[in-house]
Amino acid sequence: MLVEVVDNYETLSDRAAEVVIQQIREKPDSTLGFATGGTPKGLYNRLIEAHEESGLDFSKLTTFNLDEYVGLPPEHEQSYARYMWSNLFNHVNVTESQVHIPHGMAEDVDSHCQWYERRIEEAGGIDLQILGVGANGHIAFNEPGSSLGSRTRIKTLASKTVKDNARYFEDQDMVPEYAITMGVGTIMEADEVLLLASGERKAEAMKKTLEGHITAMTPASMVQMHRFAHIVIDEEAASELDYQHHHGIVEPKDE
Ligand code: F6R
Repeated sequence: MLVEVVDNYETLSDRAAEVVIQQIREKPDSTLGFATGGTPKGLYNRLIEAHEESGLDFSKLTTFNLDEYVGLPPEHEQSYARYMWSNLFNHVNVTESQVHIPHGMAEDVDSHCQWYERRIEEAGGIDLQILGVGANGHIAFNEPGSSLGSRTRIKTLASKTVKDNARYFEDQDMVPEYAITMGVGTIMEADEVLLLASGERKAEAMKKTLEGHITAMTPASMVQMHRFAHIVIDEEAASELDYQHHHGIVEPKDE
């Protein structure tokens, strides 16, 4: 694991953007895995800037998103499809044929999930997967208890996730209880994972993820098993760690 601890959310977004931009420049036909949520928004803004100001080319990429709510059509304002188009894809040179996001209205969810896995394989696997982490240690919608070998499938959302989401929905009947998510096993097959976490709210989850046991109760802890996990977190998210990370050297904090 390469753990980089940076000052704050802005420097985290700068650093994440450097990694993703380098990947796109070195391999313009990369397969990238994208996440939604608050954390990668700064990264996406910087990717848009790089496209506008220095012509960063998205036209040869293939993209896969981690997850989508079941029951929401792609145009719903809370869908992850809508998030990706409004926070990134609409502002860069990406067309629909390059983009893969699980379909929240798939009629046959199981075969849709199998198709999603096949598409990742046909694209040659994911070169770089961006990840956020939930305060409960989830990655994608692999909530605590998810099998560490899991593949893309439908998952019941933790009741806390459902409650947290309720405030975004005018119509409470539309609040999703299920999501389609890449599995932990699917995510771990990416050549590189770039996990981002910011703020005190993530401190406990990051302690468990980086220093705790590898356990299904903290699905993000599986990054410890990955062959190239790159973790970029800010000081607040790193505040509970017992170890400090400095240029790849890892030492207990009190030494
Ligand atoms: C998003 C996703 C989630 C988020 C996580 C953190 O596609 O899969 O696992 O990455 O819930 O969300 P934020 O960044 O909003 O704290």
